[in-house]
Amino acid sequence: MRYGFFDDSRREYVITRPDTPLPWINYLGNKSYFGLVSNTAGGYSFYRDARLRRLTRYRYNNVPTDTGGRYIYVRDDGPPPAAGEYWSPTWQPARRPLETYSCRHGLGYTAIGSTYLGIEAQTRYFVPLGENLEVWQLIVTNHRENVARLSVFSCVEFCLWDAWDDATNFQRNFSIGEVEVDANDDSPGVIYHKSEYRERRNHFAFFACSEPLAGFDTQREDFLGPYGSWDSPAAVARGCSFNSVAHGWAPIGSHHVRLELQPGETRQIIFVLGYHENPDEEKFDPPGSQQIDKRTVRPIIDRYLDAGNVEAAFAALRAYWDELLGVFQVETPDIHTSRMVNIWNAYQCMVTFNLSRSASFFESGIGRGMGFRDSNQDLLGFVHMVPERARERILDLAATQLESGGAYHQYQPLTKRGNDAVGGGFNDDPLWLILAVGAYLKETGDWSILDEPVPYDNRPGSEQPLYDHLERSLRYTLDRLGPHGLPLIGRADWNDCLNLNTFSSTPGESFQTADTKDGTTAESVFIAGLFVLAAKELAGIARWRGSPQEADRFEVEAAKMESVVCQHGWDGDWFLRAYDDRSHKVGSRECAEGQIFVEPQGICVMAGIGLDAGLDGSQPSAKKALASVGEQLATAHGIVLLQPAYTRYYLHLGEISSYPPGYKENAGIFCHTNPWIMIAEAIVGDGDRAHDYYLRINPSAREKIGDLHRCEPYVYAQMIAGSDAPTHGEAKNSWLTGTAAWNYVAITQWILGIRPTFDGLEIAPIVPNDWPGFEATRIFRGVTYRISVDRVGRGNSVALLVDGSPIEGHLVPLPPLGQTEVMVNVALGRAGD
Ligand code: GLC
Ligand code: GLC
Repeated sequence: MRYGFFDDSRREYVITRPDTPLPWINYLGNKSYFGLVSNTAGGYSFYRDARLRRLTRYRYNNVPTDTGGRYIYVRDDGPPPAAGEYWSPTWQPARRPLETYSCRHGLGYTAIGSTYLGIEAQTRYFVPLGENLEVWQLIVTNHRENVARLSVFSCVEFCLWDAWDDATNFQRNFSIGEVEVDANDDSPGVIYHKSEYRERRNHFAFFACSEPLAGFDTQREDFLGPYGSWDSPAAVARGCSFNSVAHGWAPIGSHHVRLELQPGETRQIIFVLGYHENPDEEKFDPPGSQQIDKRTVRPIIDRYLDAGNVEAAFAALRAYWDELLGVFQVETPDIHTSRMVNIWNAYQCMVTFNLSRSASFFESGIGRGMGFRDSNQDLLGFVHMVPERARERILDLAATQLESGGAYHQYQPLTKRGNDAVGGGFNDDPLWLILAVGAYLKETGDWSILDEPVPYDNRPGSEQPLYDHLERSLRYTLDRLGPHGLPLIGRADWNDCLNLNTFSSTPGESFQTADTKDGTTAESVFIAGLFVLAAKELAGIARWRGSPQEADRFEVEAAKMESVVCQHGWDGDWFLRAYDDRSHKVGSRECAEGQIFVEPQGICVMAGIGLDAGLDGSQPSAKKALASVGEQLATAHGIVLLQPAYTRYYLHLGEISSYPPGYKENAGIFCHTNPWIMIAEAIVGDGDRAHDYYLRINPSAREKIGDLHRCEPYVYAQMIAGSDAPTHGEAKNSWLTGTAAWNYVAITQWILGIRPTFDGLEIAPIVPNDWPGFEATRIFRGVTYRISVDRVGRGNSVALLVDGSPIEGHLVPLPPLGQTEVMVNVALGRAGD
């Protein structure tokens, strides 16, 4: 069954029934104020940090699902027969049988509308650019033949800021809730949430309404009634607020507005929910009182209670996204490719860049901040959109690096300080920084970033140029080689769950933070491949920067590691995964289970290992490794992580064997790894296979199997259940996954083949043989490249015409200063083949 459809011209996904298999969500906000919103208005908001500055409450994993949100109730105030009926125009939480329903998720906004009892109500939620607030525009229309007398109630439940504390520390929290209410006749009603403002916080939340209030509530228990629930609040049922003022317990914000609508009449009500900080010395007005000083916040509130200003802000948001997406647009013969590249994949890359793995409907916003490896990879799919923000992110990440070259596994977005909360000593972490910086340099040509002074561990006085951080990243691996000369794995490499040093037998213990073996034996072939890739990248950077000797040195290190992989990292038909704590092979035909893993096949081929080898099996062969992936790991729903799945728990392998077969890292289709294989297939020149793998996990292509897939058809999920699982094909953990960035890189740079390099834009498409061609527009370093690819025969050879003149090779040189447009005609394949 389908639950909606793509409206490509408006860049929206339209959901046509509220009871989707899971909440299908969207994100509001781009920079500091964020919200999650589901297709039935569930979700919450936060400022910068989903744990430390949460504005509103959400109840993860609750019953019914998706509890807590941006709620609006409409009540019929009479006359009979509808008198006293009430409903939620977003379906939740009242869940009445709406006559019409649609939810349009767009880029940075969501509009949910419905009709019930002849009353149409549409709410559009968005965060204006550059503001720390969200606007809800509610438009109510009376389609009845007579006058409608209605009550509208809004409601949010405030979170007491630290979401972890909020969910655990009730002995304190039930006593600290405080609000202020401005509800005079002559000014719009504003509810302020100011718990802890009296002491160390200088920030508060506000929730304002554009219309005169009939009443308000700020105490949850009053609004809901004793033992009441969100689907039948007492205030809504009786048609009148209680004007409650919260002292402790659970502060909420609810406005009550009465409307009288003539037949055909439409009215707009605007609600504004936001976050504001006052300087410490201007917290109170009058000074010495405990009342919030509202002089700086009121003008902001008033601006967004004005319909004209709101429309202008919405138009600016649309224009912003048009511009961002305009950096790369394509027209291909395949709708799923075009749609994901042009709209949704790029959009998801913005969200993963902003939030790493912190806050989705599957990441609670409490456990994880910005991951070091995650954020470096997320940047790969984002850097072309807002390079300045990518630059800032690189410097933030590098500032958390340790002097050893190692890295904290994550940092907290609010403080930008590294922490070990989800473990440390993941030995792959530092290498990703080199790939991120390489991508930034290729996109922008901004070599000055390498000279930026960046501290270690945020310690003032420890600053070194960013370039020094990159060198230490490589050295970190070289300082930690194991018995075969392969990199030691540490806590884990990219695969958090392959814990070769953990040996955990204590129930509930975290595999990522448990005490480890001394870690001097277990080695990772994956890190070896990643090292070769990163060392070659750094060599490229060094050469471009004018340090040829250093470049040579990095190339020598890459070659040495490559030969170690050839000697000890090849299993005959595929790359080995690792050596365990006893130096036994992992990911080998010698193993009872887990004989082949996808990660080393992808990363080693991307690093160029085995590209020239024959097929006799004595030396690594990229083609052979990829053929093994095709035979043993590829399924109709994507490529599984390993085979055969682990059927029992192995103490020496750790969390990977804790999952039932087919889920997550234990032979799930861990989507993040799939684009590595697409890229590898493109590198060996197989465009048919690369694109076939691309389509298997492409969410838009999976829309038609929505009942199986279950997650949103417009974004990638972290995982699709593998062939060993009873629910093979079911996606899980949508939105926050490295899959977004890597798929974007795979399709745009390797399959469509439009690839930034240090020297200019390279164009080398590896597309399916039955594609007649495609068109692309790419803005690169301020120049618009209009690229037109025509297939003249089979294969991947290209002949380029740049502004009408033939050039040698694949690389379009940067045009002379002042030229802002370049036309590139690509003849693809060899005529007659
Ligand atoms: C999660 C983590 C990521 C890790 C992957 C594989 O997505 O965020 O860092 O590489 O799992 O374990
Ligand atoms: C669990 C998950 C893995 C994730 C890790 C992060 O191990 O299975 O995917 O990367 O937690 O802490």
